[in-house]
Amino acid sequence: MNHSPVEGFSKLSKQRKIDWLIKEYLNDDRSYEQILQQYWNGDATLQKLHEEFSENTISNFYMPYGIAPNFLIDGKLLALPMAVEESSVVAAASKAAKFWIDKGGFKTTIINTKKLGHTHFILNVEPHKLQHFFNFKLKKKLFEATEEITKNMRNRGGGILNIRLIDKTADLENYFQLKASFDTVDSMGANFINSCLEQFGKTLKEEVANEEVFTQEEKDSLQIVMNILSNFTPDCIVRAEVSCKIEDLKDDSGISNEEFATKFKRAVTIAEIEPFRATTHNKGIMNGVDAVVIATGNDFRATEACAHAYAAKDGKYTSLTHCTIDDGIFRFWIDLPISVGVVGGLTNLHPLVKFSLALLGKPSAQELMSILAVSGLAQNFAALRSLVTTGIQKGHMKMHLFNILNQLGATEEEKNHFVTYFKDKTVTHHEVITEFNNLRNKN
Ligand code: MEV
Repeated sequence: MNHSPVEGFSKLSKQRKIDWLIKEYLNDDRSYEQILQQYWNGDATLQKLHEEFSENTISNFYMPYGIAPNFLIDGKLLALPMAVEESSVVAAASKAAKFWIDKGGFKTTIINTKKLGHTHFILNVEPHKLQHFFNFKLKKKLFEATEEITKNMRNRGGGILNIRLIDKTADLENYFQLKASFDTVDSMGANFINSCLEQFGKTLKEEVANEEVFTQEEKDSLQIVMNILSNFTPDCIVRAEVSCKIEDLKDDSGISNEEFATKFKRAVTIAEIEPFRATTHNKGIMNGVDAVVIATGNDFRATEACAHAYAAKDGKYTSLTHCTIDDGIFRFWIDLPISVGVVGGLTNLHPLVKFSLALLGKPSAQELMSILAVSGLAQNFAALRSLVTTGIQKGHMKMHLFNILNQLGATEEEKNHFVTYFKDKTVTHHEVITEFNNLRNKN
């Protein structure tokens, strides 16, 4: 079927948008409207709030919101809020938290909190001439021109940390950058950074135009390409770690502590040297990180992009976690670059985000960085623990059982039957279907 483009879709009311979609794409089948409506919130104010988070909204898309308790992090016992649709992620986190609770828990260190942004520009000028102009004039002007924008942030203890001129002409003809580092304290700081950078672009333009050392031709060559923060923040980084004596590393799968430690470490080494494995390994880490990032109203696309860029920073994609066994001590850690906020953005608007932050004891941005790194490390520990012992499917399918049963339209009574049925068996899709048919035939 051919569809026609629509004019002014954003200006249509919610109902008119739905009417148009159902007519144009869904064969005029009004039952689809029901699906959208059943996710509308009965509280009109809350519904409006959600609609205004984004654009062209016609419904809400729910995600399960779960809790992983028993996380001992830097001596504090926390229950982590996790928004995630994948079964077994919350269970895995809870299991890892419980494993480490009596071994000192998770320890974290904030390594740095610097964020970065660039004004990318083209200027056909000798690099040393530009560097001289930057050192003796422009840099000071850039700080002065952003004083209004940075005032509140400076009052909160942050602001622009430094600005450098970067010569990129070896990579692209006449390409330079103003590379700035920022401290955005408790906010993620995207709007703050981008506002500063846009001002840099304007000031650069004005100052170059008024600068007598540049010829008219040089001045005319200036093009501000873009002013934008970088989501790659290798200097906004936290370490989370666990460690214990091998003799305390008891796994319940029946293998010895030494064998478990060796197998575990080898699995981490494989992720360090093999990008195909590293991608899945890191995906598992991000299961834990993203779930808490979303529950706390932060931007999971930014945290994903940053983590993977960091994993590839040395030219080969590798593991974000590492493991050593030295002098009988098992040590497992993650260095996670991550930029998040606890003020601004959705944090003051979304009621569940407010709940998450309250549950976590109203953490600072740095404390949230620590919690996120722990969540990623715990998730990776749980995944590797299963992978090197029982295999991942045993636990995963157990959690996935309810999805299969819901697809089959199982009743509560039937679901209870399956929980008992699979108590000591690995769940497989085939086995569920066979037993389901047996059960239905019997009844
Ligand atoms: C599944 O979402 C994540 C895992 O594949 C991670 C891993 O293999 O380490 C279990």
